[in-house]
Amino acid sequence: MSAWNAKPPEQRAAWRRLATLARAAPARPVDAFAHRLGPLFVDCAKERVDTAVRQALVALAAESGLEAAIADLLAGARVNRTEDRAALHTELRKPAAAARPEVRRARERFLRFAEAVRNGQHRGLTGEPIRAVVHVGIGGSHLGPELALDALRAENDAPVVRFLANIDGAAAERALRGLQPATTLAIVASKSFDTLETRVNAATLRRWFAPLGSMADVARCHFATVTGNADAARAFGVAPAQQFPLWDAVGGRFSLWSAVGLPVAIGLGRGPFEELLAGAHLVDAHFASAPLGANVPVLLALLQVWNTNLLGASSHAVLPYDHRLRLLPAHLQQLEMESNGKSTRLDGAPTAIDTAPVIWGGEETGGQHAFHQLLHQGTRTFSADFIVCARPDHDLPEHHDWLLANCLAQSKALAEGNAPAPDGDSVPAHKRVVGGHPSTTILLDSLSPAAFGALLALYEHKVFCAGALWQINSFDQWGVQLGKALATRIHAQLQAGATPDQDASTRALLAEVRRLR
Ligand code: F6P
Repeated sequence: MSAWNAKPPEQRAAWRRLATLARAAPARPVDAFAHRLGPLFVDCAKERVDTAVRQALVALAAESGLEAAIADLLAGARVNRTEDRAALHTELRKPAAAARPEVRRARERFLRFAEAVRNGQHRGLTGEPIRAVVHVGIGGSHLGPELALDALRAENDAPVVRFLANIDGAAAERALRGLQPATTLAIVASKSFDTLETRVNAATLRRWFAPLGSMADVARCHFATVTGNADAARAFGVAPAQQFPLWDAVGGRFSLWSAVGLPVAIGLGRGPFEELLAGAHLVDAHFASAPLGANVPVLLALLQVWNTNLLGASSHAVLPYDHRLRLLPAHLQQLEMESNGKSTRLDGAPTAIDTAPVIWGGEETGGQHAFHQLLHQGTRTFSADFIVCARPDHDLPEHHDWLLANCLAQSKALAEGNAPAPDGDSVPAHKRVVGGHPSTTILLDSLSPAAFGALLALYEHKVFCAGALWQINSFDQWGVQLGKALATRIHAQLQAGATPDQDASTRALLAEVRRLR
C-alpha cells in the first residue's frame, strides 16, 4: 500500500497555509463553485471559500497522497488496517461484465429470489404467496435498506416491507401487527450473525412462525439470511438457496449494494435496483478518474476538513428538502460518525485535531419550524448540506416550487444573513441574522434510483477521503464494543437481582427498576 498516511495533516505545508487563510475566511459566497456529477448538481458556492482557499485545500489533498489513497481503496488494498481487510463496496455495484464472478453470481441469486418473492413464485408453507416481508437487522444492516425503500418505493403490488431493528419488544409487536405468518417472509440480515438485537428479534420471529409447522419447514419457506457468517446461517436452518453472502470486506454501513439490499429489490424490483447500482457506479468511475480539484467526493471531504478543523464547525446538518429522503440523516449519521468518529490515527498515535463532526438533521421544511431558529441566531458554529430535487415525482408542482424556494432561501439566509441596509444598520439586534454559515446544496435531477445511488456513493467516498485526510481508519468501529460488553454484564445482574460491582449510579437505577417491578 502506498504511503498516503506518512504524516498527520496538521504538519503539512498546505495546512499551515489554510490556517492563515482561515483568519480571513470569506464570510459570504464569493465565486461560482459547482460541479455536475451525473444526475447530481453539487453547488458549493455558499461554502466559505475563495480561490486561494480552494487551491490550498486541493494542495492539502495532493500533499496527503489522496490520489494514492483512492487508488488503494479501489484496487482492493487492505485499507481497513486494524482488521487487515480491503473495503470492497465499490465491487458490488460494478456492471455484470466488470464484476468479479462471485459478486456477479451472488447478485444474480438474490435478485432472482427477490423476483420470485415479488411475483408469487416463492410461496409459504401453506402454498400462499408472500404478502409481507419483515427485515430484521440493525445499523448498517438496516438503515440503508429502509432509507432506499422509503425513498424510491412507488405504488405497486409488491409485498409490504417492514423493518425490525430495535430490541424493544414494542418494535417487534408493531412490525408484526396485522401480518399473517403464512404469507410473511423474514429476512435476517447481520454480517456477524451475532448482533444482540438481531439475535433476539430473529428468535421472536421464529416463535411467531411456530404455529405454521416445524422449524425446519418454516426456515425453508419463511426465512432468508444475509450474512458473512455462513455457519451461523446454516445452524439457523435456512434453506441454502435462501442464504445470501455478505463479504468480510464489505462494511455494514457500505452494504446496501449487496444482498443486504434484498428488501429493496423485493420492494422495487430488479430493474430499479440495478439502476441504483448503476448510479453508484457512475460516481465510482468519477471518483477513480477525476483530478483532485474536480473530484466531487474529494472536494466535499476537503470542505468538511476546512469547516471542521479550520473554521471550527462541530456539527454538520443534513437537510433533505424531500419527504422521501427523511431517513437520510440517520443513514449518514452511521456512515459518517461510525466511520470517522475516531481519535486514534492509522499510525496508532492520538489525533491532535478534531475528526468527524456530529451529524444530525431532519426532514424539511419541518426543521424550519423547529431548529432553524438556532441555525440563524444561535451561538454555534456548524455546516450544512441541503438536498433537493429539481423535478418532483408528483402532480402538485405548486408544492414543489415552494419546497425548492424554501431550500434556496434557507441556504441563502444562512450564508448572507440580513445584511444591514445601505443607509446604516436599521435591523434591531433581536432581528439580526448574522449569516456566514457554510453550506453545500446537492440538487438531484429527480429522485430516480440512479440519482439516489449516486447520492449515497458520493457520501461514501467523501467519508473515505475525510478519513484519509484525518489519517484515521474509516472502516472499523472498535468503540462500540465496550457498551456491548457492559450490557451483557448488566443484563445478567438485572436477571439475578445482584449488583455487586456496579458504580453508584448504575446500582441506584437497577435498585429503582427492581422496586418499580
Ligand atoms: O455495533 C455496530 C455494528 O457492528 C455496525 O457496524 C453494524 O452495521 C451493526 O452493528 C450491525 O452488525 P451486524 O450486521 O453484524 O448485525
